[in-house]
Amino acid sequence: MLTQSTGNSTQEIYESFSADDTFELGLRFGKETAPGTVITLEGDLGAGKTVFAKGFAKGLGISEHVTSPTFTIMQIYDEGRIPLYHYDAYRIEDPEEMEEIGYTDYFYGDGVCLIEWAGNIEEFLPEHITKISVDRDNDKGFDYRRITVTKI
Ligand SMILES: Nc1ncnc2c1ncn2[C@@H]1O[C@H](COP(=O)(O)OP(=O)(O)OP(=O)(O)O)[C@@H](O)[C@H]1O
Ligand SMILES: [Mg+2]
Repeated sequence: MLTQSTGNSTQEIYESFSADDTFELGLRFGKETAPGTVITLEGDLGAGKTVFAKGFAKGLGISEHVTSPTFTIMQIYDEGRIPLYHYDAYRIEDPEEMEEIGYTDYFYGDGVCLIEWAGNIEEFLPEHITKISVDRDNDKGFDYRRITVTKI
């Protein structure tokens, strides 16, 4: 996996050449991420957001199997170094639901939130987040992904 910094200290770009690379990057972030961090995962269907989340969970010390919480919207994993709140907002029809259920409370807690399809609940996101975008580039091959990490 290649790392490229953009001269801008708040943004890093990684090049992933396989699902394993993306898992490994997730693992690294899972080891380092501080409590209270909210990470959004952007990217098309099948881009690799959940692969990243699986690596991240392992980095936190979670051995439980992590899957896309598509139908439950949010899944809690609390056997790691800090709690992981894994969201998948793909199927959210009414973003207000998030607040009504109390799911947005975790954004201000002591765990880490990983949010797939965060664009669907944009209005509820905190001011400071880490945005991770997983993007294909067809010219660079089927398994290539450019992973851009931006701290806001
Ligand atoms: N470089 C790569 N990084 C991540 N996944 C890759 C890569 N190359 C191929 N893949 C494959 O792409 C798929 C990514 O699936 P994943 O479930 O992580 O996507 P997703 O972004 O979570 O999709 P969804 O929006 O449906 O939740 C996996 O089958 C994985 O093996
Ligand atoms: Mg997913």
